[in-house]
Amino acid sequence: MQLPSLPAVAAATVLALSLAGCAAEEATKTESGAKIVDEGKLTVCTGLPYKPFQFEQGGDIVGFDVELIDLVAEELGLEQTIIDTPFEGIQSGQALNTGKCDLAAAGMTITEERAEVIDFSEPYFEATQALLVKVSSGVSSLEDLAGKSMAVQEGTTGELYAEENAPEDTTLRVFEDLALLQTAVKTGQVDAGINDNGVLYDYVKDNPELEVATEFDTGEEYGFAVKKDGNESLLETINDVLAKAQDDGTYDEIYKKWFSEAPKG
Ligand code: ARG
Repeated sequence: MQLPSLPAVAAATVLALSLAGCAAEEATKTESGAKIVDEGKLTVCTGLPYKPFQFEQGGDIVGFDVELIDLVAEELGLEQTIIDTPFEGIQSGQALNTGKCDLAAAGMTITEERAEVIDFSEPYFEATQALLVKVSSGVSSLEDLAGKSMAVQEGTTGELYAEENAPEDTTLRVFEDLALLQTAVKTGQVDAGINDNGVLYDYVKDNPELEVATEFDTGEEYGFAVKKDGNESLLETINDVLAKAQDDGTYDEIYKKWFSEAPKG
């Protein structure tokens, strides 16, 4: 009996592996062709908490983004499952490109830099940076923070804005999530905090000892994101669902529920 030569064995193994690879991929596609990492589920990465976009309430994760993505999940016949992971790894593309989740919904601003590593949906929300301070802090602008400290959230557009625009001698303190940033301002660990207007206005509603001192006109737009060049089908469904929700009033209804007013414009 002649044993197969080594290269033949190697080739056979490679073939078997690649066939298995195909089979696995087939098993995780929806009828519409969207790729999913976990059968029956739309696995969504987000960085909690980001109220009112996504946050925990009575044991559930709820919010504006969550409801919009529920529409996408419904369209695909899937159930939304949310994975909490630091925002830094979401915006860097790491969470999506390593297959941790199918999409990211995290009140995430569409930027050119991010668009090189992840694919964004059409914009679904407008935002701008804003400054959170204690009422009577005397701080009403970035300039007032000269020689003082400011909290920023890791990996966010607010962090970048502060790095580029805050006075040289402002100490930036980096926090992993929004709640830590807000608490730092509230307890006086820092003199101010920068983050998106939507989340800060929501926070001061329940924390009257704090206020939004000013907004910076950064003209941002949020997008949902999928793996770079990896899931056109899912992206298409997200865009279709968003367009339909905007047309038929569902978007406005969800907006009013979480922001207690109609969308501007
Ligand atoms: N919009 C900002 C950005 O994209 C902040 C987003 C933070 N989101 C979160 N879920 N923590 O950088």
